[in-house]
Amino acid sequence: MKKRVAILISGGGSNMLALLRDMGGGDHPAEAVLVASNDPSTSGLAKAAAAGVLTAAVDHRPFGRDRAAFEAALLTHILAAKPDILCLAGFMRVLTPDFVNRFTGRMLNIHPSLLPLYPGLHTHQRALDAGDTQAGCTVHEVTPILDDGPILGQALVPILPEDTPDSLAARVLTQEHRLYPAVLRRFAAGDRKPIFL
Ligand code: GRF
Repeated sequence: MKKRVAILISGGGSNMLALLRDMGGGDHPAEAVLVASNDPSTSGLAKAAAAGVLTAAVDHRPFGRDRAAFEAALLTHILAAKPDILCLAGFMRVLTPDFVNRFTGRMLNIHPSLLPLYPGLHTHQRALDAGDTQAGCTVHEVTPILDDGPILGQALVPILPEDTPDSLAARVLTQEHRLYPAVLRRFAAGDRKPIFL
């Protein structure tokens, strides 16, 4: 039986699409059962729907600072889809420990840095400011600590002398699209050994 995967997005969803494309391949141990977003207007939702995947939107704004109430509304959609695995793919809301702990060992995230370097935002600017010679991306299991948790895979990207945060982000994103599907494919088959691309 294929593992059921729900994907949470906030933006354009290019990582989500990379995951859908790979799962659509037929020989994949997982299938996408839901794409959900905190932004009802994000183009990623329309792309997921066009790919034939059930979508849901729960706007976080009316909930203000009440994260638990927002998550409860989101959870209704997620639980209805009965996912085995939850993939965060550019999901820009910090999740409460209560939410995260419901999915211990079953929730993945992609982050655009070589964790443990640069958790949080502005990763590319920070790598350039530090004078690093390489950057990259990480897929990890989600724990209640932001951008922490066991590392499942990393892809390296050289930093070029002329790089700006945008040019570096674009090259890292290309690697994200290779790394996340590769990790999910293994994870869904029960293999949590980290891979390095
Ligand atoms: C990616 O760089 C991801 O690592 C970060 O947000 C970006 C999302 O891009 N967390 P997309 O929506 O998948 O195109």
